[in-house]
Amino acid sequence: MLITIDGPSGAGKTTTSRLLADRLDYRYIDTGALYRGVALAAIWTGLTPDDDTALEKLCSTLKMEFMPGEKGLRLISNGSDVTDQIRTPEISMFASAVSARPVVRHFLLDLQRRLGREKKAVFEGRDMGTVVFPDADVKFFLDASPKIRALRRYKELKSVSSQTLDAVERDMRRRDENDSTRNLAPLKPAEDAIRIDSTDLSVEAVVDRMLTVIENMV
Ligand code: DC
Repeated sequence: MLITIDGPSGAGKTTTSRLLADRLDYRYIDTGALYRGVALAAIWTGLTPDDDTALEKLCSTLKMEFMPGEKGLRLISNGSDVTDQIRTPEISMFASAVSARPVVRHFLLDLQRRLGREKKAVFEGRDMGTVVFPDADVKFFLDASPKIRALRRYKELKSVSSQTLDAVERDMRRRDENDSTRNLAPLKPAEDAIRIDSTDLSVEAVVDRMLTVIENMV
């Protein structure tokens, strides 16, 4: 069984995917963390997000893997644990920019499909159901109103950033625009995805809804 959850930032994908994977005893893979890992490596190397030649070279030497940690999976990039460093607003914007570059998407497509071979996993991202795993067993598209998504991101970011709620919402809208208008693998629901609006739902309520769908499908 392979389950995909796509949607914009702040829709609740991460908490939902984690809890769903826990309940099913599946592996949980946050593919946004991989784009963030590329962004961090690019910033450390001093690259601009549109330098395809340099990005390709960077990807060819980048080894990223997930390792279990006390509070969920840790992202290890070329031997270093970068789990906490990839969560800043700067990395969010840079990740959105590099995610539009075909060289980066191509590199991560292979990596994600390799991770998917182990099956029994919940994959969270933007193009899981449309491009990476078009044959996934169950596909969800999770959304919520922009205001509530901005508020959730703001609360999440509080410990690592001093951004105001307005700045978080502005960044989020810019990222949404980048992610859904790029040519390659834009953010959009797969035709066969089940859409859930989490604006007025708790994480538990969303997961219960997903579990009901999954139980009825298998
Ligand atoms: O889910 P996130 O905010 O951690 O993702 C960071 C960026 O990575 C997001 O702006 C778009 C990109 N991304 C993508 O293009 N495709 C994915 N499957 C996951 C993330």
